[in-house]
Amino acid sequence: MSKRTPIFAANWKMNKLVAETGEFVSRFKGLLADVPGTAGRDFEVVIAPPATHLTTLAREAKGTPLEVSGQNCGTAKWGAFTGEISPAVLKEVGCTHVIVGHSERRHVYKEDDALVAARAKAALDEGLKVIFCVGEVLAERKENKTFQRIETQLSVLLDKAFANGWSRLVIAYEPVWAIGTGENATPQQAQEVHAFIRRWVADRGFANEAGALRILYGGSVKPENAGQIMAQADVDGLLVGGASLDPTAFAGIVKNGLISWT
Ligand code: PGA
Repeated sequence: MSKRTPIFAANWKMNKLVAETGEFVSRFKGLLADVPGTAGRDFEVVIAPPATHLTTLAREAKGTPLEVSGQNCGTAKWGAFTGEISPAVLKEVGCTHVIVGHSERRHVYKEDDALVAARAKAALDEGLKVIFCVGEVLAERKENKTFQRIETQLSVLLDKAFANGWSRLVIAYEPVWAIGTGENATPQQAQEVHAFIRRWVADRGFANEAGALRILYGGSVKPENAGQIMAQADVDGLLVGGASLDPTAFAGIVKNGLISWT
């Protein structure tokens, strides 16, 4: 069995009313309790709701195995950054994790590698775990430039500012063409990129860190494909968008993922 603890992360994006948070948690924790094989298993379940829902989610999740994540964070602790959320405040309201560099931030809001790196650094400085997203667009995959794109996105992590942060870094591989499209990467495509990421980190002087690094797959994960994807040697968890909005589907993903994860 892998020594890495798997992570199932829900990214709600800009969905749900605050008032729907409590019902989700109560239904989901009931479903999780009934998942065979979860008793005594070590795994993390993280929910990233919109920022406005964090306080409510943290309150509702108290005493459950659920952890709470931001969907993004500012590049500094405090300052004149209208519209941004301080990583210190994410911590204050109960977050343990934060997502940075999600493809919608990179592509819709044009966040570049330097900005994503600054966000990740600010989050690590506050003691948060960072779910650092990478992934190629369809044209890059078609032109065999997937590894090149991933390498560029990962390169910012070689800055010495990250040298002590590897234990709190989680990489999420999310091919942009698979996000919200219903077309997931095949388990083999996911494994190939995950193995590349682990080898890349090891080859940059972080061999031990690479062995312990959790690498999540994201992009059209559903209960039906979670098992096959989690069965891959270098897949340590899943980052789920659309299907995580439904407690039954998300619990199905955790269940099927854990059953096949070894
Ligand atoms: P999806 O989104 O599961 O809806 O494809 C994944 C993500 O954006 O993290």
